Amino acid sequence: MVYVTVIILAFVVLFAVKVSLISLFFYADVRAAQKRDPAAKSFLEIILLYQGLHALVYYRIAHIFYSMHMFFAARAISQAARLFTGIEIHPGAKIGRRFFIDHGMGVVIGETAIIGDDVLLYQGVTLGGTGVVKGKRHPTIEDNVVVGAGAKVLGSITIGENSYIGANAVVIKDVPANSTVVGVPGRITKQDGKKIDISLDHAHILDPIKQNMEEIESRIDKLERKTG
Ligand SMILES: CC(C)(COP(=O)(O)OP(=O)(O)OC[C@H]1O[C@@H](n2cnc3c(N)ncnc32)[C@H](O)[C@@H]1OP(=O)(O)O)[C@@H](O)C(=O)NCCC(=O)NCCS
Repeated sequence: MVYVTVIILAFVVLFAVKVSLISLFFYADVRAAQKRDPAAKSFLEIILLYQGLHALVYYRIAHIFYSMHMFFAARAISQAARLFTGIEIHPGAKIGRRFFIDHGMGVVIGETAIIGDDVLLYQGVTLGGTGVVKGKRHPTIEDNVVVGAGAKVLGSITIGENSYIGANAVVIKDVPANSTVVGVPGRITKQDGKKIDISLDHAHILDPIKQNMEEIESRIDKLERKTG
């Protein structure tokens, strides 16, 4: 009976220590989650149950090891985080303040990704590379960007501050600040609060398939005029 009581007490103490440490060192991140998730009911709920926060805690520890060139230990922590949270953040990535991953499952953040302050990612987001090139090969996400569920942002591109990447978009080119991007490949539908009519504004078209289709249509028109 004494043993059981001691074990329960040990768990309670560990639990209290964990909550206190996260509250102390991750206060701003917990507040960010509370602000950005309408479903969040309490500070304690976020600390205990939000996988996005847990992944961030693991990442911050792994990043310290990575900065000290202890790559194996750093990678081991990040793989443990992946096992427990379903979120894979490479310890070499650079992540700013008040970062929040909502839901989280399936998020992958590559080694050379750079993430600014106040960034929000939803589940299934990939900040990945496009090939096997060395050096900077993952995106830079500037401050206050939201990346929707399932979106893929690929290559050494920059997503300008205050931009929105729509759910399931695939973005492979730079995005200017204050833009909304949707679709595959991503195209800008809004910039600085104004809707962009992509049929008129060719400067903002990011969609090579649409451009190819238009080219083919114009060639067919020419051929029809010649033969007709
Ligand atoms: C892109 C987004 C931010 C909306 O931006 P918005 O500027 O308010 O966009 P609108 O609703 O005015 O839509 C603009 C156009 O883009 C289209 N669109 C919007 N979201 C889209 C998406 N994810 N994929 C493809 N097209 C999309 C709309 O149908 C509309 O097309 P139309 O002009 O031909 O009618 C939002 O739709 C989105 O995808 N948010 C991600 C949220 C998320 O992932 N939540 C997960 C919670 S678990």
